[in-house]
Amino acid sequence: MTETWPVDPHQPDPRTLARAAAVLRDGGLVAFPTETVYGLGAHALDPAAVARIFTAKGRPAHDPLIVHLADPADLPKVAADVPALARGLWERFAPGPLTLVLPRHPAVPAAVTAGKDTVAVRIPAHPVALGLIRAAGVPVAAPSANTFGHTSPTTAQHVLDDLGGAVDVILDAGPTPVGVESTILDLTQDPPVLLRPGGVPREALEEVLGRPIVSAQSAQSPRAPGMLPRHYAPRVPLWLFDGPRTWAQEALWQSAVHLARGQGRRIAALVPHEDAARLRSLGVQVADLGPEADLEAVARALFAGLRALEAEAPDVILARTVGETDLGLAIADRLRRAAAHILRPPIPRT
Ligand code: TXA
Ligand code: MG
Repeated sequence: MTETWPVDPHQPDPRTLARAAAVLRDGGLVAFPTETVYGLGAHALDPAAVARIFTAKGRPAHDPLIVHLADPADLPKVAADVPALARGLWERFAPGPLTLVLPRHPAVPAAVTAGKDTVAVRIPAHPVALGLIRAAGVPVAAPSANTFGHTSPTTAQHVLDDLGGAVDVILDAGPTPVGVESTILDLTQDPPVLLRPGGVPREALEEVLGRPIVSAQSAQSPRAPGMLPRHYAPRVPLWLFDGPRTWAQEALWQSAVHLARGQGRRIAALVPHEDAARLRSLGVQVADLGPEADLEAVARALFAGLRALEAEAPDVILARTVGETDLGLAIADRLRRAAAHILRPPIPRT
C-alpha cells in the first residue's frame, strides 16, 4: 500500500517529515521531491532498504545510486576523501542540482555504489528533501522515482503512476522546480569528467574550475552506467529534430504536414511555444514547453510534457532541440535518450 502525504513545498510540516523519516529509518521507501525530480529514497547505510529500491524500480544492480545529504559537514561520512575542488564547488553550488563523484567511504554499502570504489553525492535544494534527510539523521540513497528506463517524475502523480504499491510513502509537494536531473561531475578523474549534463549548466562549473570540462563521451573512461543510449524513454516512438533552430523548426513542421496527410495517424509534438499554434492548426496534439528563450521553463515542462503526450497514445511524438547552451545541453541530452529516431540536418557541401 502506498500512502501519499501532502506537504507544503516551502514550509513542510515537521510532524509529516518526522513520520516519513521514521519510515526511512525503519528500512522503508519514501518518494520525495527534490528541486530536480522526485527521488525514491531509502536509508543509504541499510543494504536491505537499498535493495528494495532496485526491486521497486526494476533497476539493474550494476547501476549505482546517488547518496543525498542535508549538510556538507556530513560529506566525510560517505566520502573517503573530500578534495579541495569538491569543497570549492560545494561552496558555490550546494545545496543545488550538482552531484559529485568522490572516493567511497567504507561505511557506504556496495549495493549503493554497485560495487564501485566511488560514490555519487548531492545536497538537494528543496526544503522537503532537506527537512526529510535532516529528520532521518542518515544519508539517503535515491534514484529518480520512475520505473527503470522510463521518463523521470516531476510530480507525485508521476511517481504513483510508475511505482504505486511498491513505495511506502510519497511526499507530495507539487511539481519540482528545475525539472531535469542534477549535473554529475566525476572528481575522481583528472581533469574532472562531466558524466551527465543537468540542472547546473556546464558553463557555470567551468567558470568555477577555471578550465573546460571533459564530457564523458570524449573521455577515456567508462560512462555513468545509467547513461544508456535509450533512457528516459516514453512508451511512444519519439522523432527528434536535432540541429540549428531554423532547420529543426522547419523540418519538424514539414514532417508534421507530411504525416498529417496519412489516414488516421495520430501525431503529437513536444515543442516550444513558438511552434505550438501552427502545429495545432494541423490537428497535432501539442505539449507546449513555453518560450524557447526561457530554458528554465522548457526544462521544467519537459518530462511532464512527455508523459502527458504518452498518455494520449499517439502514433508518434515529434520534438526538437533548443540549442546546447546552459540548460539546453541537459534538455538535448534527455531528448536524445528518449528518441527512437534522431534526424539531423544534411551536411552542407563545400
Ligand atoms: O537530480 C538527480 O540527480 C535525481 C534526484 C532524485 O536527486 N537523482 C537521479 O538519480 O537522477 P538516478 O539514479 O536516476 O541517476 C543517477 C545517475 C545514474 O546514471 C548512475 O549511474 C550515476 O548517477 N551514478 C551514481 N553513482 C555513480 C558513481 N559512483 N559513479 C558514476 N556514476 C554514478
Ligand atoms: Mg534516473
